[in-house]
Amino acid sequence: MRLAVLLSGRGSNFQAIHEAVHRGELDAEIVCVISNRPDAPGIQRARDFGYAAHVIDHKAFANRATHEDEVLRVLDEAHPDFIALAGYMRLLGASFIERYRHRIVNIHPSLLPAFPGVDAQAQAVAYGVKVSGCTVHLVDEHLDAGPILVQRVVEVRDDDDAETLAARILTQEHEAYVEALAKLATRPWRIEGRRVVFE
Ligand code: GRF
Repeated sequence: MRLAVLLSGRGSNFQAIHEAVHRGELDAEIVCVISNRPDAPGIQRARDFGYAAHVIDHKAFANRATHEDEVLRVLDEAHPDFIALAGYMRLLGASFIERYRHRIVNIHPSLLPAFPGVDAQAQAVAYGVKVSGCTVHLVDEHLDAGPILVQRVVEVRDDDDAETLAARILTQEHEAYVEALAKLATRPWRIEGRRVVFE
């Protein structure tokens, strides 16, 4: 599996994917890493690991479409089978999603469809749910909404705040992302309605 990674920040999910590839647990080649933020720690990690690392700063473009065109140009050159969004804090336009239909994967720190959008862990604490978790899903035109690949459940404790819950979810994210990509890489699958069915 040729894998591209898009990120905007810390890059711990990217690092987990990198380590799984290294350990031989994920049969993938990371063919490029793209950050929209020049100061993202994740893109520095990508350079340190020796990957083709690209900063495509959205602030340097006149609008969303021209920024996205450049991201697509770099992606297309790398010929990825799948694109992993790993803390990429930009919405993708319809033509981007169409071009890579069912080949863009995202991770979200809640049990979707609960708590889409930003600050999912704080939303979960404020709502008072007793379990939350993370969701790895295919990306469609709607925010945090595409067909689900893997979910992991995490307990919400009475003394949790957004930070402690986020930390507990994050360790599960790292495993869930690798599990989802490994399934996509090794098992035939199809989409039935909203469901991803692995054979
Ligand atoms: C993760 O919590 C992920 O679920 C969300 O953004 C965060 C990215 O963290 N989409 P990192 O950059 O992978 O460390």
